Amino acid sequence: MSPFPLNCWYVAAWSHEVPSSGLFHRTILGQPVLLYRLQTGEAVALDNRCCHRAAPLHLGRQEGDNIRCGYHGMLFNPQGACLEVPGQTTIPREAQIRRYPLVERNNWLWLWPGPPEQADPALIPDNWACNHPDWRYVPDTHTWPVDWRLICDNLLDFSHLSYVHAATLGGSTEIAQAKPVIDRIPGGLRVTRRVRDVPPAPYHRRFADLPGNVDRWFIYEFLLPGILLMHSGLKPTGHRWDEMQGALRLESCQALTPETADSTHYFFMQAPGFGHTDPDLPAAIHASLIQAFAEDRAMITAQQAMLKLGPSPMVAIAADAALARFRQILQRALQAEGAPLPDDGGNASWA
Ligand code: FES
Ligand SMILES: [Fe+2]
Repeated sequence: MSPFPLNCWYVAAWSHEVPSSGLFHRTILGQPVLLYRLQTGEAVALDNRCCHRAAPLHLGRQEGDNIRCGYHGMLFNPQGACLEVPGQTTIPREAQIRRYPLVERNNWLWLWPGPPEQADPALIPDNWACNHPDWRYVPDTHTWPVDWRLICDNLLDFSHLSYVHAATLGGSTEIAQAKPVIDRIPGGLRVTRRVRDVPPAPYHRRFADLPGNVDRWFIYEFLLPGILLMHSGLKPTGHRWDEMQGALRLESCQALTPETADSTHYFFMQAPGFGHTDPDLPAAIHASLIQAFAEDRAMITAQQAMLKLGPSPMVAIAADAALARFRQILQRALQAEGAPLPDDGGNASWA
């Protein structure tokens, strides 16, 4: 049984990662997945294991819309059905590889690992900012050697900006003091954190002339299985929240897809939306985000090493409110699928 919820759409790749011709592969939820495009451009996801002797199909080749295994030459169509077995005229009835439901939307390829008949594209989270002319960004994918739930925890508690990111995204302990509003929404939570009259983050000073204190906001949806859709920004302090004059606004879409139980693919973008004219700004924002993500990665990797030592104390504090609720949502999703509760290194006490 899978330790991951299966009845969800997971991001398998950015659109640009899968070329118009050629084979791309990635491990997703512990399973090898082959991604490629038909001659129409439509993307397809198949099990990356040949049903003959388990050779990885990405070591074979694409022939039109079909895939030829590079070991003994069996040929499969985009539905995963075997069309040809070299040296024989009959095709074994079981000669079939799995095809995953896959939808390309807003520059992400969304894969459904659950029963195909339950794959409803209407359930795909709306990452519109990944595909909007007003929001330019540098797309990126990292793979971190940690359990995806620890990154979910991190993204659901921005109090860490004050400490992990003191020299980058934070710049004030008042971010940690602020009490976020947490709302239950279909598929997850909405977290709203507003902070008034604080110094701008060191990161913001690189992009904008900000002589005084600012008001900052972070409003995001966090959805199963680990999708963050965020509107954030800052503006000179002393105005109503709905007054946007002089505001620096950012849209960010981030998706966590377990590679294995202990490693995670992290797809992300952050786009500046204020009236800038600097064509290099999206790249500069990306570079700053990479620096901050290195800070997160170092902390979470070290945290996971501690959790691997055995059951750890997990004293709940107020800052855990959103992540504890999300862990409950995740547990209910797993229970609804009949999966055993995951071994989460003592984190069950947070539920
Ligand atoms: S392993 Fe693919 S044809 Fe033999
Ligand atoms: Fe962080």
